[in-house]
Amino acid sequence: MVYQVKNLTKKFGENLVLDHINLEVKENEKIVIIGPSGGGKSTFLRCLNLLEKPTSGKVIYHNQELNEKTYKTIQGKIGMVFQNFQLFNNMTVIENITLAPILNKIMSKKEAYQKARTYLKQIHLEEKERTYPSDLSGGQRQRVAIIRTLMMEPEVILFDEPTSALDPEMIGEVLSLIMEVGKQNITMIVVTHELSFAYDFATRVLFMDQGKIVEDGDKEEIFKHPKTERLKQFLNNTK
Ligand SMILES: Nc1ncnc2c1ncn2[C@@H]1O[C@H](COP(=O)(O)OP(=O)(O)OP(=O)(O)O)[C@@H](O)[C@H]1O
Ligand SMILES: [Mg+2]
Repeated sequence: MVYQVKNLTKKFGENLVLDHINLEVKENEKIVIIGPSGGGKSTFLRCLNLLEKPTSGKVIYHNQELNEKTYKTIQGKIGMVFQNFQLFNNMTVIENITLAPILNKIMSKKEAYQKARTYLKQIHLEEKERTYPSDLSGGQRQRVAIIRTLMMEPEVILFDEPTSALDPEMIGEVLSLIMEVGKQNITMIVVTHELSFAYDFATRVLFMDQGKIVEDGDKEEIFKHPKTERLKQFLNNTK
């Protein structure tokens, strides 16, 4: 089991953002999380990566509870891709991609550069290695951010709305890279509003609303046979 989430609750002040969430995630699952704005999707992802600390409950990763003490053990194993890329603007593309593996002494500089170039070739950006992020399109930036995550050979990648900051014509190139990454044996959890991508990609879909996982099923169950009024309404509103 990759994750066991037990009674996870998160409050910001009096605001109950995650409400006793229980979930198990198995190796190699491709999970998509959908749901209305403010429902707790980002906060939930952030709890899976220790970017937020639960108010109560536990996140167990490979039989180990995530907390300050076990932080080191997940370093590099859980990657995250953000809506706004989070690249370092004062570093070139290749410096961005190789920073973490070099700093964490996972690879020598030479190895890291070689591996980075292989990835850049795969996404047809080999000409851009000395370019700064500000001179790339949004779609290019996000693809660089994704391969930066892959450099660490993570077991899990969490994506928080990876295409929602992009111009429409760039969404496709990022989604196809995510599909491609999905062919590998990596557990992936993707928060997205791109429902047709969700349908093609997901082995499992979670519908989150008001801090709860309201529905959890395969794509046929979620998109074709929603059980709750809330999910039916959500799907109708996003058509
Ligand atoms: N750092 C924070 N401090 C205080 N409140 C927060 C913080 N982060 C999130 N919240 C609140 O938690 C609730 C859930 O937010 P969250 O960002 O997890 O929702 P979401 O489902 O990701 O929404 P969206 O689809 O808009 O990204 C919201 O009410 C939000 O205002
Ligand atoms: Mg969010």
